[in-house]
Amino acid sequence: MGKRNTLIAGNWKMHTTVVDGCRLAMEIAKACADYPDREVLLAPPFTILSEVSHVLKDSEIIVGCQNVCWEEQGAFTGEISPVMIKDAGAVAAIVGHSERRQIFGETDELINKRVKGAVKFGLLTILCIGETLDEREKGHTFEVLENQTRKGLAGVAAEEMARVVIAYEPVWAIGTGKTASKEQAQEAHAFIRGVLGQIYEKTIAEQTRILYGGSVKPTNVDELMAQPDIDGALVGGAALDAESFGRIVNFK
Ligand code: 13P
Repeated sequence: MGKRNTLIAGNWKMHTTVVDGCRLAMEIAKACADYPDREVLLAPPFTILSEVSHVLKDSEIIVGCQNVCWEEQGAFTGEISPVMIKDAGAVAAIVGHSERRQIFGETDELINKRVKGAVKFGLLTILCIGETLDEREKGHTFEVLENQTRKGLAGVAAEEMARVVIAYEPVWAIGTGKTASKEQAQEAHAFIRGVLGQIYEKTIAEQTRILYGGSVKPTNVDELMAQPDIDGALVGGAALDAESFGRIVNFK
């Protein structure tokens, strides 16, 4: 099996205004310039998507948003459409992040609408899934991962899966400094790949990239990326520092 093309994505969450976001993007572009064989994505807040896309137009780095509506336009107060995202220069969308699920009550059904909309409009779509600490301790991890994968991808056709990336982000590892061990992460990724094989077929499962997210840092990235089913990272805190993010992109 050929190794899937690695994707390192930085989720800036609700950080940065125009000036510091553009500066950070420029610094990251410099720090990543030597690694063109790795796909790099930055997801700044909606308010600076245009500016960051502009700053990165001569680099290999692609830009994505952190959430997206499924409709092209209309009465959806507070939402941003896939067409608007592309108009701002972005080509990708993160969907179903655990902060959307936990803080804003987004359900699998709502997230599935977002996934289908993003895919339909041609965005590279990163569907985030992951169990809470309570779910892990109760032994429900695999059930949760299977449920979120199946519900999140309901109605997504096999040929659309080329535009879908899964991000496994155990909620207990996000922003806590606690990383899943390489064994825990590999086990979850292999399980998710198996579920993809059941929903679609083995070749789709083998082609789909599964990123790990949750306290990825320069100090743990190498061992995580060495796992056979880990195809990249979705990085939060460490993506706000060009030197750290550059080191993560340049994992060994
Ligand atoms: P941290 O890297 O800060 O744990 O955040 C992970 C994350 O939520 C990325 O989407």
